[in-house]
Amino acid sequence: MPAPLTAADLALRPRRSALYLPASNPKAIAKARTLPCDMVVLDLEDAVAPEAKEAARAAAVAAIAEGGFGHREVAIRANGLDTEWGAADLAAIAGSRADAVLVPKVNAPEDIARYHDALSGAHPQMQLWAMIETCGIVGNLPAVAAMARTTRLSLWIMGINDLAKEMRAQLTPCRTPFQPFLAMSVAAARANGIAILDGVCNEFRDLELFEAEARQGLLFGFDGKSLIHPAQIEPCNTVFSPGEADLAWAQSVIEAFGLPENQGKGAIRVDGRMTELLHLEQARRLLEVARRIEGIQ
Ligand code: COA
Ligand code: MG
Repeated sequence: MPAPLTAADLALRPRRSALYLPASNPKAIAKARTLPCDMVVLDLEDAVAPEAKEAARAAAVAAIAEGGFGHREVAIRANGLDTEWGAADLAAIAGSRADAVLVPKVNAPEDIARYHDALSGAHPQMQLWAMIETCGIVGNLPAVAAMARTTRLSLWIMGINDLAKEMRAQLTPCRTPFQPFLAMSVAAARANGIAILDGVCNEFRDLELFEAEARQGLLFGFDGKSLIHPAQIEPCNTVFSPGEADLAWAQSVIEAFGLPENQGKGAIRVDGRMTELLHLEQARRLLEVARRIEGIQ
C-alpha cells in the first residue's frame, strides 16, 4: 500500500484547471482523458438528474477502474450524505482508486468528520475535497479548515452558483457580492495548508469574460479554477502558470540575495523595489511551481 500523501507532496502540485463533467456522459469522460487539464471531476451531484444518479455512479467508478487519465488528478463529486444517494456514493468511491472524493455543501467541522469516517476503508492516498458554497459555512470557515490537520481534507473548491442562489445575490462579471467570501475562504484555507480553487464561469462561450474572471481568481490567491467546458482549459492554464515577467522577477531576487554584499541581510533593493527574505521564499516557490508545470507539458 502506498503511504498517505504528505503536505509537501500536495503543496506544489499544479492545480490550475479542474474540469467538471457529468459522470453520466461517456463521451465527455473519454474526451477528458485527452484534455490538458490538471484535474478532472466526475460529477454525480448537480450535473446529474435524479433518474440518472445510479448509472452515473457506476460509470464514474468504471471510468476510474479503466484509467487512462495520466497525470491528471481524478475526483468523483458525491451527492451529500443528507441525500438518498450520498451513502451509496461514498461507499462506491471509497472502494475505488479515485484520487479524491469531492463533497458538496459542507457547513461545519462535523460534516468533514462524517465524510472522513465514511472513507475509513479507502486507499491511504485518497483525499477529501470540499465544496465551499453555502451561507452556513461563513462563520465556520476557520474551524472547517482546521479539520485538515486531523482528516483527509486537503482541498476546497468554491461553488459560486449555489452561493448566489442561497444569498439571493446576483452573479455579475465582477462578482462584487462574493468577494469577501472568496478572500476569507482563501485565508482560512492557507492557514491550514489547504489548496483552493475558484468556482466556475457559466458563460462558456465568452472566453474574454472567462479570462477576466480567472485573473480575478489569481489576484485573490486561488491555485486554479473550476471549469465546465474544454475551451476554458487553455486560457485557465495560461492565467495560473507563472508568466515570463514572474520568472524573470524570481530569478533576479534569487541572484540578488546570492550576491556577497547581500549576505546576512533581510531586506535589499532589487530593481528599485524593497525585497525581503519573504520575497526570496516566494521566488523559490514560483520557480518550483514552474518546474513542475514544465514536467507535465
Ligand atoms: N468535459 C469533457 N468534454 C466536454 C465537456 C466537459 N465538461 N463539455 C463539453 N465537452 C465536449 C462535448 O462532448 C463535445 O465533444 P465532441 O466534439 O466530441 O462532440 C465538445 O466538448 C464540444 O461541446 P459543446 O457542443 O461546445 O458543448 P455542449 O453544448 O455539448 O455542452 C455543457 C455544454 C455546459 C452542457 C457541457 O459543457 C457540460 O456538461 N459541462 C459540465 C457541466 C458540469 O459538470 N457541471 C457541474 C459543475 S458546475
Ligand atoms: Mg453546488
